[in-house]
Amino acid sequence: MHAFVAGHPIKHSKSPLIHGTWLKRHNLEGTYRAIDVAPEEFETFIERLKGGNAEFVGGNITIPHKERAFALADQVDETAELMGAANTLWREDGRLKATNTDAYGFAANLDEKSPGWRDLETAVVYGAGGASRAVIVALIEGGFRNVHVLNRTVEKAKTLADRFGPKVMSHPLDALKDVLGGAGLFVNTTSLGLEGTAPEIDFSGMRQGALVTDIVYVPQKTGFILQAEAQGVATADGLGMLLHQAVPGFEKWFGVRPVVDQELREIVEAAMGVR
Ligand code: ATR
Repeated sequence: MHAFVAGHPIKHSKSPLIHGTWLKRHNLEGTYRAIDVAPEEFETFIERLKGGNAEFVGGNITIPHKERAFALADQVDETAELMGAANTLWREDGRLKATNTDAYGFAANLDEKSPGWRDLETAVVYGAGGASRAVIVALIEGGFRNVHVLNRTVEKAKTLADRFGPKVMSHPLDALKDVLGGAGLFVNTTSLGLEGTAPEIDFSGMRQGALVTDIVYVPQKTGFILQAEAQGVATADGLGMLLHQAVPGFEKWFGVRPVVDQELREIVEAAMGVR
């Protein structure tokens, strides 16, 4: 059995390491490899995958192909539908099926690091790109009552609010101070986590038991995480989301549900040069 991750560029993907570690751990004969697929080749790639004697049982789709994968699959599940994007494909009953495991990965990471997170009621999501959608889906499914989405381009936040209904509200970035008061969860989904680029944020007005998390995992402690730590607010870094989002795909392709554990985390951290 062979699986892949397709993206462009693809060489920095940690997915081959994650799935390769699990294949070894479970003594499976399968393979998982990275394939660079340029945008103009993507449709042909998918057509070949749909073909009867396809080499692959399925695979992951990453930037910039998640929306096209969603559009080209024979059948998409409800989660992929909610996000308008797919990151996991598999062949079943002669059809190419698609889901999106990013929301699952986000939730499973917080389940592991901060099990009470679903009770935090009000969330502030910083950013309104593709990753933000997955976070919003996870928050709504997790039972959050209010989800404030802030974005530099406020129209993009408004599009998400319109799509996801009255629990989701859109704001410009300068509304942060107002919406953070009393909030339980702060999630960064923007590329501003890199050292020195995060805005200064005072998390002290958040409710007791508040949690700050970042879906960016390079560096593992982003500017948002560092500030929250310095202010004594609980944090959860984003590496676990990457590890957990890989679980459902591996299970579909190889028939074994793998576990995210400290050994896997250390292997991936070592490859990222943080250990
Ligand atoms: P992803 O799919 O990883 O979410 P994306 O769709 O490119 O990536 O979204 C990046 C997010 O980071 C967006 O919310 C973007 O804001 P805009 O929609 O206004 O572009 C945000 N972002 C990136 N650079 C930023 C900056 N310098 N200041 C504020 N927001 C920024």
